[in-house]
Formats: sequence, structure tokens, C-alpha cells
Amino acid sequence: MEKQIVLLPGDGIGQEVIESAKQVLEAVTERFHHTFTYHTHDIGGVAIDKHGTPLPEDTVRACQQSDAVLLGAVGGPKWDQNPSHLRPEKGLLGIRKQLGLFANLRPIKGFDQLLHASPLKHDVVAGSDLLIVRELTGGLYFGTPSERRNNGKEVVDTLSYQRDEIERIVDNAFQSARLRRKHLTSVDKANVLESSKVWREVVEEKKADYPDVEVEHLLVDAAAMKIITNPKQFDVIVTENMFGDILSDEASVLTGSLGMLPSASLREDGMGLYEPVHGSAPDIADQGVANPLATILSTALMLRHSFGLEKEAAVIEEAVEQVLEDGYCTGDLDVKGGKQVGTKEMTRLVLERVTAQDATKSIMTCYA
Ligand code: NAD
Ligand code: IPM
Ligand code: MN
Repeated sequence: MEKQIVLLPGDGIGQEVIESAKQVLEAVTERFHHTFTYHTHDIGGVAIDKHGTPLPEDTVRACQQSDAVLLGAVGGPKWDQNPSHLRPEKGLLGIRKQLGLFANLRPIKGFDQLLHASPLKHDVVAGSDLLIVRELTGGLYFGTPSERRNNGKEVVDTLSYQRDEIERIVDNAFQSARLRRKHLTSVDKANVLESSKVWREVVEEKKADYPDVEVEHLLVDAAAMKIITNPKQFDVIVTENMFGDILSDEASVLTGSLGMLPSASLREDGMGLYEPVHGSAPDIADQGVANPLATILSTALMLRHSFGLEKEAAVIEEAVEQVLEDGYCTGDLDVKGGKQVGTKEMTRLVLERVTAQDATKSIMTCYA
């Protein structure tokens, strides 16, 4: 298989984790005889510094012509005081919008080896396995007006959706639920927000098309509580852009660290942008200690969702699992008695297992 991949390392640890992920992709493609060509472009703070904009046109064009995009992270204190249009985050929001990536899939599955690293009790997290389907190109993030008024004495943000934007993300979530345990929780704030009332209506309408999926509605405040008190009650969660942003960072505690969570942002035709859920972590940037696993796991999502390469994706996931089983961890993972390693060593350990013969055997047993 031949594919064109755009790499957008961005800022802070984005640079470090993208290098790791690229090496892992190269090892997998070599092993399975695929040819991926990589094109690196600027986004976020580095793009502001080099080109005066967080999202250069050249970057957008390259992404549009590619088969998939792998992004590190954007942002950092250097640009925090910039006006809104010159913030690194605008670049990220812009690329999601311009590519039409409305469905953000954030799978959250506790790795057994990390359960004791979670601040939650073992029997609360053990066996939890949920998927947050976050609407990504509408809602509070993109509604207009969004501005200060009256000399800064007043401010407004807008939560707006077209009904068909809600319909397509709800359909996407129902389809994901069908492939999993057939349970969908729609999260909203229908006791207050008009947009949430419509969201709930759409879910109720769509229910008829998916009679095999059990549907539940939860208010976002209660959902926030239940994700950490009873995560096993969830299979697929579908929710508005900002609710999904907040709930997914919260759910990362189930995995022991934000450094473990991958994500896929997709449009209808399967084209996708893949990125870790975490940010640029300026507090640990350039120290060689960032956990590259969320980005490495994001490449597995790319292989699965954009290219249909299930076996190759599983090899990566299996390699990550084996490294953890063998007792290796990065600083953020806080594994008792674990051997703490840096970004490069963690990457090498994953690579070793991606190329090892026995990885195939174990995958064949799992996926035959
Ligand atoms: P963050 O996710 O960057 O960091 C939160 C905490 O988690 C920090 O203590 C950090 O050291 C730790 N952490 C995150 N990823 C890690 C990893 N891979 N390995 C080890 N530790 C890790 O969130 P923040 O500090 O709130 O934001 C920092 C900057 O990142 C901001 O500018 C923010 O806008 C941006 N951000 C970008 C994205 C993105 O590009 N997708 C996502 C979130 C935040
Ligand atoms: C994420 C991030 C982004 C978001 C920011 C950096 C714009 O927090 O991907 O979760 O809010 O979507
Ligand atoms: Mn976030």
C-alpha cells in the first residue's frame, strides 16, 4: 500500500512524540511492505514564528492532498498573550474545520499494567473501556459572534449547531456503538440549553434507525461524576465539542495518564487527522521525558480507520502493551517498581517489539 502522510509536529513535546511515532510507523510499514511518504509542515506556535500565522496555506494544501495527517500538539506560554487570531490553538481549530473533521473519536481503555497508577480504586477502573465521540467542528468553539463588546465590559461566545451537524455525529456514534457493546450515552445539558434540547431530540429520532443499540441520556454534570465513579457503565459517549473536550481529559485518569490517550478526527470519507489528546506540555518540553505512547497509539488508529490495516494497527497496540507488561514506563506513568525510561528509550522498546517475530504470533492469536 502506498500512502502520503503529512506530519504536523507543532510545539513543545509535539516535536518529540511525532519523531517517535514516525519511527514506529516506518518499522510497521517496512515489516508489512507498505510505502508511506512523509511530508512535514508547520502549525501552531512554530508556524506563527516562521510564517506569521498559526495555519499557513501551504500546510492546509498539503493536508488536503494527503491520505492522512499525524499531529503532535500546539501551544505554549510564548504565544499565550497573542491576540486570538495569532494563537497556536487557532491553527489546530482551523485545520480541523478546513478538513471537515467533524468526528473526534477518543477511545479510553485502561491498560491492566497501569491500573494501579490510576488515582481511582482498582475495582472502579478495572475493565473500563469507553469511546468518547466528540463533535469537533461546531458548537461553542466555532459559533459567532465570539467577541468582547462595550470596551470589554461585555463578552459573548455562541453555541450554535445546524441540525444536520448534530445528525451526522449522532449517526457516527450509533455506528461506533454497533461495532462495540451496543450502548450509547448521549451527554448534554438539556435542562438548560436549547442546543442540548435539539441534540436530545435528534438522538431520540435516530434511535429508530438503530434498534439494536440501547440509548441513555445524561446531563453533562452527572456524566462528569459517573465517568470517575462508575466508568464501566459507559460504552460509547456522544457529545458536543466542548463537553467532549472536558470529559475526555477527565476520562484520561482511567488510563493512568493523559500521555496514553490517542485520538482520531475523521470525516465521512475516512480521511483523518490523528493526534494525542494531550497538549504540548511546556513544563516537560525538550527534556526527553515525554510519553510518546499516545501518539504511537494514534498511528495505530490511523492504520485502522484511514487505511483499513487492522493487523498492522494491532501490532502497534500489542507492542505498547508488551512494553508496559515488561515493566517500562515514562515519568508520567508512575508505575510502582517500574523501570522509568525517557522518550527515545520508550520508542526503542516499542520498535523492538514491533519488529519482533513473536508480536505476529500473538496478534494472529488475538485477531485470527
Ligand atoms: P497538556 O496536556 O499539555 O499538559 C497537562 C499535563 O500533562 C502537564 O503536566 C504535562 O506535563 C502532562 N503531559 C501531557 N502530555 C504528556 C506526555 N505525553 N507525557 C508526559 N506528560 C504529559 O495541557 P496544558 O498544560 O493545559 O496545555 C499546554 C499547552 O498545550 C497549551 O498551550 C494548550 O493550549 C495546548 N494544548 C494543545 C492540545 C493539542 O494540540 N491537541 C491539547 C491540549 C492542550
Ligand atoms: C484538544 C485541545 C484543543 C481543543 C485545544 C488546544 C484547542 O484541548 O484537542 O483536546 O480544545 O480541542
Ligand atoms: Mn482538550
